[in-house]
Amino acid sequence: MKIFSLITLCVITSAHKITQLKVPLYADPRRAAELSCHFEMDDQKLHSVKWYRDTQEIFRYNPSQKPPIRLYNASGITVQSGDCQTDSCLVRVMPPPLATRAAYTCEVSTEGPKFQIARQTKHMTVVAMPEKDPVIIGARKLVRPGEQLHLNCTSDYSLPPSDINWYIDNELQKPGVWERTELSAPELGGLRASWRILRIVVPPTASGALSVRCEAILLVEPPVIRDVTAIVTIHSRTQLSKYVSNTDSNGDTEKLKIKILIRWTYIVNVKNIIFLVDLGAHLTGNIRPFHYSPHC
Ligand SMILES: *[C@@H]1O[C@H](CO)[C@@H](O)[C@H](O)[C@H]1NC(C)=O
Ligand SMILES: *[C@@H]1O[C@H](CO)[C@@H](O)[C@H](O)[C@H]1NC(C)=O
Repeated sequence: MKIFSLITLCVITSAHKITQLKVPLYADPRRAAELSCHFEMDDQKLHSVKWYRDTQEIFRYNPSQKPPIRLYNASGITVQSGDCQTDSCLVRVMPPPLATRAAYTCEVSTEGPKFQIARQTKHMTVVAMPEKDPVIIGARKLVRPGEQLHLNCTSDYSLPPSDINWYIDNELQKPGVWERTELSAPELGGLRASWRILRIVVPPTASGALSVRCEAILLVEPPVIRDVTAIVTIHSRTQLSKYVSNTDSNGDTEKLKIKILIRWTYIVNVKNIIFLVDLGAHLTGNIRPFHYSPHC
């Protein structure tokens, strides 16, 4: 028994084999991806090294032929170059501008009459991550009850394009018929930006603030999420009445605004308002000399 297992071991170690297969998990559609296959022949003679993308042959190295290296463009991909050493072959492929996952196989075979084959496969997914957070256009800082807001959230370019979700106070907003995610034209590598419109009618009795969040989600495994939040303050009548209750009804709006501003500033930062008042006094004190005519 011991002798048999020893023989089996010898057979396995003496066989040629692929020692390392390097295929990137993700490939950027704007750059060529480098794939390499390292092998050990032991005392066997190399017949050929082939690379396949799924079932299509994209590369062949046959040292006894002229030219020894041949490249084949599979559907959608361009094989830029191929190069072999005694123990490895490397190919550079430009991935298709599509969010696809493909199997890349390296196959190393020995000379006849046996033509023994060693094979290994790894998968590569074409994807381009967004580099920036999405942007919200149209989010005014201050709105009145009953007013309408027309928000546009645009994601950065990516492959596949991002899907867009809107949340108001953390509640997911289902898109209306005319408010689905729209896509831009493709850029280099098939990257696209996406946007979605959100219409909000501020309820007449609303007060406080709305937290509007836009989420751009890239459906890869695991999903990649980028988001941005806009805070919209509701300028409600009830809020205003707190400050205008003891002023006469036809007091001008300018005064009201100033009062609100001062009151607010005062609450938030007492030091500042004291400074402002002091500065005001100081300025009035100093203004007079400028009115003197140099001739007098
Ligand atoms: C593969 O496609 C590229 C670009 O279209 C072209 O330049 C090249 O000659 C093609 N190679 C082969 C082997 O067909
Ligand atoms: C939303 O914003 C994007 C980017 O600025 C723009 O291309 C798109 O036309 C806008 N959509 C609408 C409906 O305004």
